[in-house]
Amino acid sequence: MNILRNQSLKSHNTFGIDVKADFFYEVNSLLELIEISSSTIFKSEDLFIISGGSNILLTKNFKGLVIKNNIKGIEIFSQDENYVDLKVGAGENWHDLVMFSVEKNWGGIENLSLIPGNAGTAPMQNIGAYGVELKDTFISLEAFEIATGKIKCFTNADCCFGYRESIFKNSHKGKYIITSIIIRLSKKPTVNIDYGDIKNELNKLTIKSPSIKDVSNAIIKIRKSKLPDPNEIGNSGSFFKNPIISKSKLETIQKKYPDIVKYPLKNDDFKIAAGWLIEKAGWKGKRFNNYGVHNKQALVLVNYGNAKGSEINKLSELIIKDIYKKFDILLEKEVNVL
Ligand code: EPU
Repeated sequence: MNILRNQSLKSHNTFGIDVKADFFYEVNSLLELIEISSSTIFKSEDLFIISGGSNILLTKNFKGLVIKNNIKGIEIFSQDENYVDLKVGAGENWHDLVMFSVEKNWGGIENLSLIPGNAGTAPMQNIGAYGVELKDTFISLEAFEIATGKIKCFTNADCCFGYRESIFKNSHKGKYIITSIIIRLSKKPTVNIDYGDIKNELNKLTIKSPSIKDVSNAIIKIRKSKLPDPNEIGNSGSFFKNPIISKSKLETIQKKYPDIVKYPLKNDDFKIAAGWLIEKAGWKGKRFNNYGVHNKQALVLVNYGNAKGSEINKLSELIIKDIYKKFDILLEKEVNVL
């Protein structure tokens, strides 16, 4: 077993933060995971599981064992004339999976094109974009329970999915290593183009009856125009969640800011565009040496070079304080700060 020591995590997180782990081990199969779980290091050290590294901000060296989950494989688990269930290894790149499905004309995840990260971490925060969330196609997952070494199955309901939420970010945090997921895709796909930006993009391309490939292409174009490519500028996508506030609070804020961007929810509450709040507060495009707020999407914090995770975290705290002061809204981080 080749456990690396004093290993840099720079190439394992999309923020590109250079911190070190005392121990580092990459698992490529369930068997390798079972093997490492019987080692003294696994049993005695603190553990951190990393996969695509696309939703973390590392602020210090990790005193313990980092396991890189690289379990691959896409297989048809079951199918009929209407649907196909795919069983996907946790270490499969999410966007590659979307491209694989789009090429087969299997619909359901095309709106989730170009989201960084891997299949196994998608359920952790119930990834979502352009009117679709993972939970809409998710059937179940298998996970290795760290305390017992048992493999457990979690259905869609078991995962308690919410907006950027699941049981794995709450009561089950740090207790399981997701090894595979099953998603159900449609062989007779219908497109979901309700999100304004998609319609505009398809109109620009004069596409009247879009295929799922057209929708995927439109979304790739929109994302590329707004969001920085982590291979060029370190980032973790949206750093904050869009906050949810009551109608009465919205009405109070609207007196001062009538143009606030909001989306009504079913229960009379409103989801507010955090990007709008941050832009309105004057943070969009602000740069401090090697880090800052992205100039095309204020929800995204970026590492231009060799920034420290602690500096980016400090910036996020300043933004949270400022938004609270100006709008009486408490922003919540979407990214996991370690
Ligand atoms: N806006 C601004 N200024 C900004 C950014 C946004 O005013 O700098 C306003 C605009 O009015 C815009 C509205 O906010 O119309 C919504 O912006 P956008 O469509 O970019 O979506 P978002 O709410 O900022 C969410 C997700 C993204 C996802 C997009 C599209 C969260 C936290 N973020 O962003 O997810 O791609 O919707 O569905 O829910 C991610 O999670 O990493 C991520 C990128």
